[in-house]
Amino acid sequence: MKIFIDTGEINEIREANALGLIDGVTTNPSLVAKSGKPFRALLDEILAIVDGPISAEVISTDCDGILREGRELAKIHKNIVVKVPLIPEGLKAVKIFTAEGIATNVTLCFSASQALLAAKAGATYISPFVGRLDDISTEGMTLIEDIRCIYDNYGIETQILTASARSPMHFVQAAKIGSDVITAPFGVLMQLLKHPLTDIGLQRFLDDAKKIKS
Ligand code: G3P
Repeated sequence: MKIFIDTGEINEIREANALGLIDGVTTNPSLVAKSGKPFRALLDEILAIVDGPISAEVISTDCDGILREGRELAKIHKNIVVKVPLIPEGLKAVKIFTAEGIATNVTLCFSASQALLAAKAGATYISPFVGRLDDISTEGMTLIEDIRCIYDNYGIETQILTASARSPMHFVQAAKIGSDVITAPFGVLMQLLKHPLTDIGLQRFLDDAKKIKS
């Protein structure tokens, strides 16, 4: 399973990249706004750090506007993936981007039927938001299972990108189901590494090491 970091914070991207943890980056307008940086400047900084797919989201909601923005974004670098909302105008644009060889990440997916339609439009990635489904008392990971089943039934190549992941359990479940990619905030990636028995065990080894005769 590939791991992307879901953030607009350059220090987090740099640290996760140095740890060798990440294969790519996802951003969205909320994360870009939080970074306090202009969108283009932020993308340039990310592109200089990570050599992998970088999702950059359009903010137009009509097909022509999405095409205009997406083509500009795709021109910046071959690693840019144009992130498009899962709305009818978005799917029209995805079909055209696909024909033009522009990679897409179809975002704000909350149902298996939406995921099937995005795949039919040729989406490179589909981003089901598991955490936001959990927020409304619906089991988000069931959606990943359903999409995996449907895509496998028909040999669909669109990659499942588990998004809105909020915990290590989302991560482990996504891997067990066979999600192609997961994107998670820096804090969740760090939580994946932690285990109290690792810390306790290390401390004991270090204490005992002091008793070794030289
Ligand atoms: O990639 C989508 C993700 O950023 C949404 O996460 O936590 O805002 O639901 P969240």
